[in-house]
Amino acid sequence: MIGTVLVTGGAGYIGSHACAALMEAGYQVVVLDNLCNSSLVSLERVGEICATSPIFVQGDVRDRDCLDKIFHAHTITAVLHFAGLKAVGESVDFPLEYYDNNVVSSLVLLAAMQQAGVTNIVFSSSATVYGDPPSVPIREDFGLCPTSPYGRSKLMVEDILADWHVANPNWSVCRLRYFNPVGAHPSGLIGEDPQGFPNNLMPFVAQVAVGEREKLFVFGDDYATADGTGVRDYIHVMDLVEGHVVALEYICRQPGLHTINLGTGNGVSVLDMVKAFEHASGQSVPYEIVKRRPGDIAACWADPRLAETLLQWTASRSLAEMCEDAWRWQQGNPRGYA
Ligand code: NAD
Ligand code: WQD
Repeated sequence: MIGTVLVTGGAGYIGSHACAALMEAGYQVVVLDNLCNSSLVSLERVGEICATSPIFVQGDVRDRDCLDKIFHAHTITAVLHFAGLKAVGESVDFPLEYYDNNVVSSLVLLAAMQQAGVTNIVFSSSATVYGDPPSVPIREDFGLCPTSPYGRSKLMVEDILADWHVANPNWSVCRLRYFNPVGAHPSGLIGEDPQGFPNNLMPFVAQVAVGEREKLFVFGDDYATADGTGVRDYIHVMDLVEGHVVALEYICRQPGLHTINLGTGNGVSVLDMVKAFEHASGQSVPYEIVKRRPGDIAACWADPRLAETLLQWTASRSLAEMCEDAWRWQQGNPRGYA
């Protein structure tokens, strides 16, 4: 299915990589982003990578008029819905902002799609909906028990999409549950640009390696894991967005409600990540073990077999490649897009 895709949140970390992947695959792209956590430079860089830039509309997904104008002006065949707030800790302090931004935006978007007759949507969900799983690897049919307002906002949207699909069974809905996206486009032109103190491991490690920060704080070394530090399923952002392109093609062929993990199936500890990054960058990454971060779980990785079966997609890039690409981005852009 080649056509025009609306990418909400397309100026952000994953959205900008998705724009590049979609355009490389031949799609036209319209981005709607309010730039609350991103810079327009990301889309200028996508333009450098793809030789043409996506169409950009600055606006809020909660603004129904803005959406109606986009659907009126362009023949949109599908929506990739990335826009939202994503910081787990911040969501505990500002739950209303998270529910408003993440849930209300999705409601307004679905209503506008319904009116415009746009029937294909891929939603950015998260492995955080599983909470603390009873075992690993995590399958899509595991129980759902998110532990933060952020996670609950994702689960609410998943439920809304399921109800919407019951009422519209010929429509295509894909709920993609990402594990831990990291890395950057191999060009080094686009990457993750956290505002202020990075919440996530990889950008923090990268900032230590480039000399922006003195050391990494490792949150606990007393978990029941091989080296005592937390284990996660890091997935290269390029693999992740290629997964979106195939998911989009799949749902356009197969109307239905689809729920799919996007992960590698490999568990990597914090100290494994430090070693891999040191190797890729040739820099040392000093660290200090500190107490556990409240709310963290010991281990979390995907069972990726459903994606393989349905989409014929597997994540192919190694941890070394994730670190090399993140390092290229970090070195070329030590202060991000600023
Ligand atoms: P990001 O913050 O870099 O990108 C989100 C984009 O959405 C930003 O450009 C922001 O300006 C925009 N935005 C936010 N609210 C908006 C609104 N109301 N209207 C218009 N634009 C709005 O985040 P990301 O890492 O690229 O994440 C993209 C999506 O994937 C999010 O929904 C996030 O919850 C989800 N996700 C991310 C991760 C991760 O670790 N990065 C993991 C799982 C799921
Ligand atoms: C990874 C590991 C930390 C930072 C979060 C969200 C999740 C999803 C992905 C959106 C853990 C340790 C981290 C640091 C550390 N996002 N760590 N020092 O917590 O698995 O997932 O991002 O949906 O919802 O919760 O990712 O990168 O924060 O942490 O030791 O400075 O690194 O304890 O073991 P997490 P993370």
